[in-house]
Amino acid sequence: MLRAAAWVHWGLFRLCTGLSVRMASSGIAQKGVLANRVAVVTGSTDGIGLAIARRLAQDGAHVVVSSRKQQNVDRAVAVLQGEGLSVTGTVCHVGKAEDRERLVATAVEHCGSVDFLVCNAGVNPPVGSTLGASEQVWDKILDVNLKAPALLLSQLLPHMENRRGAVILISSIAAYMPHVELGAYNVSKTALLGLTRTLALELAPKDIRVNCLVPGVIETDFSKVIHKNKAFWKSFKENMRLQRIGQPEDCAGLVSFLCSPEASYISGENIVVAGFSPRL
Ligand SMILES: NC(=O)c1ccc[n+]([C@@H]2O[C@H](COP(=O)([O-])OP(=O)(O)OC[C@H]3O[C@@H](n4cnc5c(N)ncnc54)[C@H](OP(=O)(O)O)[C@@H]3O)[C@@H](O)[C@H]2O)c1
Repeated sequence: MLRAAAWVHWGLFRLCTGLSVRMASSGIAQKGVLANRVAVVTGSTDGIGLAIARRLAQDGAHVVVSSRKQQNVDRAVAVLQGEGLSVTGTVCHVGKAEDRERLVATAVEHCGSVDFLVCNAGVNPPVGSTLGASEQVWDKILDVNLKAPALLLSQLLPHMENRRGAVILISSIAAYMPHVELGAYNVSKTALLGLTRTLALELAPKDIRVNCLVPGVIETDFSKVIHKNKAFWKSFKENMRLQRIGQPEDCAGLVSFLCSPEASYISGENIVVAGFSPRL
């Protein structure tokens, strides 16, 4: 009863603070559990990020899509708008400070404020062993996979306050089950589990929840190196009980749930979507 009243109050509060700006910007009436809320998703023109952007928009959010290449942003925006979804887009290489600033400015300009940040963009240059990685490779992996989510969040945070928002980081099953050929990538994804816990602690006083999606092998361009390599794939599959490769849509529903009021008491969790994984 108390909880229902709190959400009604919160809904009225949101109606009074910027909703008109958002509705005018999208021109599409929003329905669904995330209606009248705004999500920024990085690396969202393909693969898991695109599936997440689509699902959040299907569930009612206005979504700001982004990635490094303008033609990919244009294509994703056109495809999603063609499905009747409320999206805008801009170029953002998450490793570049000026691009992160533009992403924040675009979101604020179009939407007034932001409720959800999904840090999906990740990089996996062919690295091999951790000790064999050059300093340049270390820098690239840590800049994009680990530092960028924290830096982008710090830039976006002033526009997320007092909105009962949520942040979702995207790690990898390689965080728990490191693979020899993925070297520093494994390390960056393990560090994201820690970043999730620390940010959840730091942002709790602001009522912003922070959780982490930990995908297994999902069929995208990114994972071709794994699922097209028979030996590599065999070793992964031995640990997998559902015996199929995951699809981007297998990840998207969890992210929408974690943004929704249904998850309002869930923060600091790293949640695996991997068709079973052998860890405690
Ligand atoms: N697929 C898997 O099996 C798997 C498993 C575990 C974890 N993950 C994680 O899931 C995330 C997404 O992977 P995915 O498989 O969906 O990849 P994907 O299909 O290759 O898509 C990657 C997306 O990110 C964009 N992107 C790449 N580098 C970027 C950067 N530096 N800044 C901004 N955008 C960038 C790409 O567009 P542009 O080329 O236009 O930039 C594209 O939209 C990654 O963090 C990855 O580590 C994937």
